[in-house]
Amino acid sequence: MLKGVILAGGLGTRLYPSTKNTSKHLLPVGDEPMICHSIKQLTSSGINDILIVTNPLHVEDFKDVLGDGEQFGCQIDYQVQNEAKGIAHALSLAEDFAEKHNIVVLLGDNIFETTIRTHIEDYLKQRNGARVVLKQVKDPERYGVANIVDDKITLIEEKPPNPHSDYAVIGLYFYDSTVFDIIRTIKPSSRGEFEITTVNNVYVRREELEYSILQGEWVDAGTHESLAIANKMLLSRKE
Ligand code: G1P
Repeated sequence: MLKGVILAGGLGTRLYPSTKNTSKHLLPVGDEPMICHSIKQLTSSGINDILIVTNPLHVEDFKDVLGDGEQFGCQIDYQVQNEAKGIAHALSLAEDFAEKHNIVVLLGDNIFETTIRTHIEDYLKQRNGARVVLKQVKDPERYGVANIVDDKITLIEEKPPNPHSDYAVIGLYFYDSTVFDIIRTIKPSSRGEFEITTVNNVYVRREELEYSILQGEWVDAGTHESLAIANKMLLSRKE
């Protein structure tokens, strides 16, 4: 069984002033709030047990919009991240929810043109370790970037100024239950955040990190420009 975790914290500062009084993940993308796309990606792939991690300012707004998940045919639980200490820190708050099950983790601002079901199926076959999904991009310095040698990921670098490849690690991750022990061992990066890339590199060193390549378009809708692209992508898909 795989449980779903959607990380929807952060302050959305790159989208100011639109995010001054609301969460980035409640802004519209296509015909509904951004977070709905992540929920539907999970439920349409058979994941019906979902945790949303968000910040204390917006948790009540999420509950107003999404409730307990009944409208999506799933169960939604909420967890508050009191400090913006990074993606790995937000994920650490999902330990009780996971109850030792494997998890699929979605960053709530990552919007996909097509279903992520095949990646979920690939991880269900993999069973243990971790899995990341890669996409070739024109601006790898904005992302975690995978160095690949002989079809294996040898290192992931977080927003490297001089990337060794153009394969971005997108915000769709799969972990076994050891991920929470790993997070307890990692140190914050120079920007003071517990990085998901640091966690993924522990799996690389254990030789337990698999990957697949994303087919179809994908957008990290964290800036005004990329939010506009995400809107266009989804609205044209529905025409
Ligand atoms: C985060 C991760 C980065 C990843 C990206 C995908 O960056 O740190 O490794 O490639 O999400 O959207 P952020 O967009 O939070 O800066």
